[in-house]
Amino acid sequence: MRMYDIIAKKRDGAALTEAEIAFAVNGYVAGEIPDYQMSALLMAIYLRGMTDAETVTLTEVMARSGEQVDLSGLPGVKVDKHSTGGVGDKTTLAVAPIVAACGVPVAKMSGRGLGHTGGTIDKMEAVPGTRTSLSQQEFFDQVRRIGLAVIGQSGQIAAADKKIYALRDVTATVGCIPLIASSIMSKKLAAGSDAILLDVTMGSGAFMQDLDSAIELARLMVSIGTAHGRRTAALITDMDKPLGRNVGNALEVAESMAVLQGCGPADLTAVCLQLAANMLALAGRGDLRSCRARAERALHDGTAFEKCCQMFAAQGGDTRVLRDPGLFAGAKYSYDLTVRGEAGYITANDVEKIGNASVLLGAGRLKKGDAIDPAAGITLHKKLGDAVRPGDVLCTFYANDPALFAAAEQMYRSGLVICAQKPADPPLVYARVTAAGVERL
Ligand code: URA
Repeated sequence: MRMYDIIAKKRDGAALTEAEIAFAVNGYVAGEIPDYQMSALLMAIYLRGMTDAETVTLTEVMARSGEQVDLSGLPGVKVDKHSTGGVGDKTTLAVAPIVAACGVPVAKMSGRGLGHTGGTIDKMEAVPGTRTSLSQQEFFDQVRRIGLAVIGQSGQIAAADKKIYALRDVTATVGCIPLIASSIMSKKLAAGSDAILLDVTMGSGAFMQDLDSAIELARLMVSIGTAHGRRTAALITDMDKPLGRNVGNALEVAESMAVLQGCGPADLTAVCLQLAANMLALAGRGDLRSCRARAERALHDGTAFEKCCQMFAAQGGDTRVLRDPGLFAGAKYSYDLTVRGEAGYITANDVEKIGNASVLLGAGRLKKGDAIDPAAGITLHKKLGDAVRPGDVLCTFYANDPALFAAAEQMYRSGLVICAQKPADPPLVYARVTAAGVERL
């Protein structure tokens, strides 16, 4: 078999066999196939697509390319959650403790920020002392003891995804349904949970820009999970506005803690409760309505917040900042962006550009391995659909170097449109996708 022929076959639009997919993926992981040939195959897949059967095969080959975690020794139905990525997407830090506080173990591996999107592990590391890299034994012991652990993904899980994703990131081949589905589901299958809730984001800050594509991605991932014996469902959530009002690592931790203390922003709280209810339902804790009531109780009686503090303490984190976010080391400099020109409504506020502006302030990485500034970020005072007048403060930037403000401002303003007509408010959750079908909400 030759990689050249596999590339040519996909370039011409034909479906690849299991043997061809395994040859390409395993050869690439082993270092026998060079980046330039894998890049060519990825671009051919991006342009020509894959059948569902090819995507399933690609997922399975990638899931088997590294370590496969066996969580069966831990009691109960273990439930996982994965977001396809967003800006200000801080739900895991609230949802995982809510679910664990309701008695369902969460043994979760999360990622770091990627491009304009944030990552849970970077946010957790904004809490001084927090360890996100635990040995498998420590991870299991913690889940057994307190029912909750969130750690960084070991490089050994779905090793092919780690290598292929890095290549996709620099070859403009990320936004492709078969490649996203196989990337996410290979990791989820290898991470070993019994149930998986997928948060498929849609909008200007997401990989999926329209509902049909988001549903197609969700259906494919749900069918892959279900076919592998995992209880799998997906919610399609909005990413035309960042959730809550903060983007940036320490700022987002503080906002998630506000949710857990019952005083978080309404949109973020509503989405967290819906995600938690769906995870509990997947774990067999009742119908969605009773699971939602259970999640609300755990939020309001403080047990979810205490569970979160327990997790951070177990991982070495200083929980004083969780109880009093004023103790986070703040950025040295702040800068207010104000409305110029006419009064009106914010009719566009491109979320990818908001994310990129926060990266430019130091909250994300411009290149792999860059250090993150946990204090950097943006607080949004006005969001898509809000009425504004000249001089109103749109948002506040935070950075430890004031020279970063100019480029971030240019980025932010390039996605901003203010018009006379108020735009329609997007729903927070568009649809729920299960093995039984699509329910539009
Ligand atoms: N998240 C992933 O893990 N992989 C993708 O391809 C996109 C989002």
